[in-house]
Amino acid sequence: MEDKTILCIGAGYVGGPTMAMIAAKCPDYTVLIVDINEERINAWNSDTLPIYEPGLDDVVKKARGRNLFFSTDIVGGIKKAGIIFVSVNTPTKDFGAGAGKAADLQYWEKTARSIVEHSEGNKIVIEKSTLPVRTAEAMHRILNANTKGLHFEVLSNPEFLAEGTAVKDLENPDRVLIGAMTTERGQEALKKIVAIYENWVSRDKIKTTNVWSSELTKLVSNAMLAQRISSVNSLSALCEKTDADIQEVSEAMGLDSRIGSKFLKAGVGFGGSCFKKDILNLVYLCEHYNLPEVARYWEQVVFMNEFQERRFVGKIIQKMFNTVSDKRIAIFGFAFKADTGDTRESPAIYISKWLLEEKAKIAIYDPKATKNAKLELSGIEGNIEYCDCPYEAAKGAHAIAVLTDWNEFKTYDYLKIFNEMEKPAFLFDGRNVLDHKKLFSIGFNVFPLGKPELSHLDDGN
Ligand code: UDX
Ligand code: ADP
Repeated sequence: MEDKTILCIGAGYVGGPTMAMIAAKCPDYTVLIVDINEERINAWNSDTLPIYEPGLDDVVKKARGRNLFFSTDIVGGIKKAGIIFVSVNTPTKDFGAGAGKAADLQYWEKTARSIVEHSEGNKIVIEKSTLPVRTAEAMHRILNANTKGLHFEVLSNPEFLAEGTAVKDLENPDRVLIGAMTTERGQEALKKIVAIYENWVSRDKIKTTNVWSSELTKLVSNAMLAQRISSVNSLSALCEKTDADIQEVSEAMGLDSRIGSKFLKAGVGFGGSCFKKDILNLVYLCEHYNLPEVARYWEQVVFMNEFQERRFVGKIIQKMFNTVSDKRIAIFGFAFKADTGDTRESPAIYISKWLLEEKAKIAIYDPKATKNAKLELSGIEGNIEYCDCPYEAAKGAHAIAVLTDWNEFKTYDYLKIFNEMEKPAFLFDGRNVLDHKKLFSIGFNVFPLGKPELSHLDDGN
């Protein structure tokens, strides 16, 4: 029963949680997850999973050892499974043609080649990683140019889970998208993948399309979401110049049901492994098809994000009397968003680096991302301290910069924090999560994002 054995190649943020959910919801299937990274596989088999994701421990525990198995045996997995999901990383290329924009497909291609090499029967191969449009076509060619007489059907089933809410998103998705070739074989394979999801997702939420639409939908869904954030962040700059308040504007705007309320939160900028990468991918695709105007349009979403990160640092420097040199600045939050330990493309990386260039001393506290923060900043020159608690980070600091929207930041004793800081004490809330009026009454000079500042200083700034 090869069709009841599912293999997933790549046990990362996407592959791990997605396959754990499939295994938990589909006891009839055996789900094998393999990765070249042994340390990661060992962690998936331990009590401390390699990624922090609320609710994931329970899902993994439910299925691990029953019908969910993590290992490094890629060859064995390929031989056993009839259905292979591929969720290896596809970073932005940093060399050669398309550097800085196109996706680096080397991991994907290597995976495809080992599937061909070790397969002993026909397989369905599913793209889970985000890939440029028409990759399935290339994969189809690589896989089917085999001399063993085997057939590989390539499908696209992009993942829309967001980190921090992965389990919720997987359990109750807005939609599951599956793209297949329009051939008879393609449609047959499609039915088999639909059947897996039907174990817990209602059929009306399973959207089937052709492969190209599915691949493109993944890219443009992320581009549209990021575009909303960049739009609102651009307006936060305007709000800071006027008496408008971006939170009020966003809320009022979002009440229009045609606009909707989600993804309108202004902040220091979007991060994460997908948004920037996917937009740049889209830009590259538009350039490739000679649509420079479309390419420039989407590129602006990324430029606006960089502007927002730089603007935040510029504001810190300006408000702190035009110098942060030798001043301790406590960084509250390094993850790219709350409820994850992931720091990929986190605005905190860029903001920290620029503050260090200005010779500030930075003291970082994050509830879950300290390990990754150390990796992101390794080799960077400057005075960096990693702290075990927020009080330690803020002690002796001139300023606190809030860079992640962790809920726990709201619960601290800010009077205690204020008393142990240098004066005047500054607080730059890059996520608008704290109670600004209360902080002001304690004595902080508070600089929220996109709203009027609450300052005791009459500095004419
Ligand atoms: C995103 C997509 O949401 C998901 O569907 C896709 O599969 C992968 O990429 P993720 O990167 O995990 O998920 O996080 P998301 O919640 O989208 O947040 C991305 C970034 O945008 C974060 O840095 C977040 O802080 C920021 N953001 C989000 C805002 O600044 N404002 C908002 O209103 C929403
Ligand atoms: P994502 O966020 O897309 O899941 P990750 O980087 O978290 O990305 O995960 C991708 C995983 O794919 C990594 O754990 C990496 O070791 C794994 N990987 C990359 N290339 C291969 C390969 N050829 N075979 C097996 N696993 C691979």
